Amino acid sequence: MKTETRIVSAGRHPEQHFGAVNPPVYRASTIVRRSLAEWRDVRNRIFDDVVYGRFGTPTTKAFEEAVAALENADRAVAVSSGMAACAAAILSVVKGGDHMLVPDNAYQPVRKLAENFLKPFGVGATYYDPAIGAGIADLIRDDTSLIWLEAPGSQTMEMQDIPAIAAVARERGVTTGIDNTWATPFFFKPLDFGVDLSVNAATKYLVGHSDAMLGVVSMRAELFEKVKITANSVGSCPGSEECYLGLRGLRTLAVRLKQHEANALRVAQWFQQRPEVNRVLYPALPDDPGHALWKRDFSGASGLFSVILEPASEAQIAAMVDHLEHFGLGASWGGYESLVLPFDPTGYRTVTEWRAAGPCLRFHIGLENPDDLIADLEAGFDRLRAAG
Ligand SMILES: Cc1ncc(COP(=O)(O)O)c(C=O)c1O
Repeated sequence: MKTETRIVSAGRHPEQHFGAVNPPVYRASTIVRRSLAEWRDVRNRIFDDVVYGRFGTPTTKAFEEAVAALENADRAVAVSSGMAACAAAILSVVKGGDHMLVPDNAYQPVRKLAENFLKPFGVGATYYDPAIGAGIADLIRDDTSLIWLEAPGSQTMEMQDIPAIAAVARERGVTTGIDNTWATPFFFKPLDFGVDLSVNAATKYLVGHSDAMLGVVSMRAELFEKVKITANSVGSCPGSEECYLGLRGLRTLAVRLKQHEANALRVAQWFQQRPEVNRVLYPALPDDPGHALWKRDFSGASGLFSVILEPASEAQIAAMVDHLEHFGLGASWGGYESLVLPFDPTGYRTVTEWRAAGPCLRFHIGLENPDDLIADLEAGFDRLRAAG
């Protein structure tokens, strides 16, 4: 079955819901049983039956089933946010005395999890150059239990040689986990490339409409319980409403992402022609350093990329972004709308030097007509120059 078809059909069981196309939002904490025998029986299957709201309602399970099918995984565990998904994946692997490897361009809160939360529990972290590839072998220690990946990495968008890292990890008995939020399982299926745990901040493209917080981890059957127990132990469960919105968003993922990709490519190529722009960081561009890896492993690019401007003052950046009509200034991305956010990775990188000619802006290109977006940005550059 092709992915577009799977996106429409996965996790749907109308026969279980009076023929309704979508599963209803089950608002449930307590699930009552008819007898002590039934209660005792179901307690043996807490993660596979519907036992208590925190373990998942039928709506949660429908979302998990659909995502697992898209990721070519056996199982998926839905949690309360993308960050909760990163945490559930990581905490399901590392224990006190372990060591993990994290790319230098990882989503910053993952670094904070490693530094502020895991270090006091005796888990060490070493950061690595995202371009390391099979060279990761030199950083693996006897106590290394996890290699974390993210491609392209947050903000600076470097690609990673995912299969090369996964192959080394397999050989050395180290578990791998990846943040797959940028590509989504529509454009990249990490488990097919040897990665053990695939994380999606469903808040972004899976939900797709900027109206819910949701995360999900996908895995082979043997890793399921560890992740599920971890998520449950820290009380990380999504609401049924959020899972419903995740499922509803998922059904249009293919068409939305294809349009995000087309729009983003148009705008990124336009940026490349602008004198105010020093570099565009987007692996879908043929001259991006990550293009060959992206082309080899991914089947498409989503709508998020970054731009390094030529030197400009804070006042010039403000003149540009403060009055953009179609680009909201705010955290997150993956909804239908365009966004812009300034960033500066110099403060948190530790093993790779980040040198940029000027200020950096991250753009999420939404589903607006790209002509309107370009006109808006063009006016923004006019203001930037006028403020110089
Ligand atoms: C790459 C990446 N991973 C994870 C997250 C976390 O997702 P959430 O905000 O749902 O916790 C985000 C966004 O905030 C992100 O950009």
